[in-house]
Amino acid sequence: MWPPPMWLMRQAGRYLPEYRAIRAGVTDFIALCTTPEKAAEVTLQPIRRYGFDAAILFSDILVLPWALGHGLEFKEGEGPVLPKLRDAAGVDALNPAKVAAAVAPVMETVRRVAAGLTTEGFSQTALIGFAGAPFTVACYMVEGGGSRDFAATRAMAYADPALFGRLMDTLTEATIVYLSAQVDAGAEVLMLFDSWAGVLAPGLFRTHVIAPATRIINALRQRHPGIPIIGFPRLAGLMVGDYAATGVNAIGMDTSMDLTRASGAIPASVALQGNLDPMALVAGGVALANETDAILAAMRGRPFIFNLGHGIVPQTPPDHVAALVERVRGA
Ligand code: CP3
Repeated sequence: MWPPPMWLMRQAGRYLPEYRAIRAGVTDFIALCTTPEKAAEVTLQPIRRYGFDAAILFSDILVLPWALGHGLEFKEGEGPVLPKLRDAAGVDALNPAKVAAAVAPVMETVRRVAAGLTTEGFSQTALIGFAGAPFTVACYMVEGGGSRDFAATRAMAYADPALFGRLMDTLTEATIVYLSAQVDAGAEVLMLFDSWAGVLAPGLFRTHVIAPATRIINALRQRHPGIPIIGFPRLAGLMVGDYAATGVNAIGMDTSMDLTRASGAIPASVALQGNLDPMALVAGGVALANETDAILAAMRGRPFIFNLGHGIVPQTPPDHVAALVERVRGA
């Protein structure tokens, strides 16, 4: 399929004035994620503006730990802040029985987006549902927020594998329920974001990235045969070839990946997705054109979805996104 389908990670967000207008009308980011009317509206904004081939549900990977009863706050300019989970009591406090009711507004958002795509004339646009992969979600829960190296999480995985394994199992099972509900609500593709997969040594990568993704994908395929699933094991480096064995249909490439070499490590039956540097999109002009063309040239003839290598940043000029869409469409 050429030109390749395209969408952008974080395509709904602060770089769009129409997003900032909606965001200004809610008390906090979680309120936006759990108000279906507004979440559906911001999901559709980038589709109306750019006509991307996919809409991604507007929510956040940290909605799932929040739904399990773990605290979550988004502080202005600080990112997410969560209670630090460091002991058995923290794992025992997670309550999978709470998830279905807590995520009901997210499912309503999915239904509204599915209906909106049809009524607004975007019936060819795929609706992507998503979740954080268990390891990345565990990272935020153990650290209590973002971190440069997720040192406490990695130390816990080595020092108390039983406890960390119990946390991972709880998250894995909850992720299956959460993603399955999104499909029931109308999601046509699923994406698993493992943004911090690359901080793990290979042994732990197999245990905490590959194994849970395999379990999630197998369970989802039993319930929803044929559902396409995209994995994003960010910064996985040479481990990316192993990730294909999870059964994913597509693998998101982060910006550091050489697409030609990654392509050689991944079977042609698995599509690649990526991997324009979000900063090339900020820069625009010749740099953006050259980077885009290099990606397209490397991926021509291979199953491929054009995307960024990580999420779009707030300082991105909306005009640069329009220029990118035009360039990819003209490939
Ligand atoms: O891609 C999309 O447009 C769909 C929505 C989406 C958001 N976050 C919206 C969001 C998706 C798929 C995510 C995934 C997500 N969230 C990841 C995985 C991908 C990645 O970026 O690595 C991670 C690690 C998170 C956790 C998270 N959420 C952080 C660290 C932050 C703060 C940093 C920031 O950009 O503000 C968020 C907040 C967040 N999630 C915003 C948006 C639009 C900004 C909040 C706001 O508008 O105030």
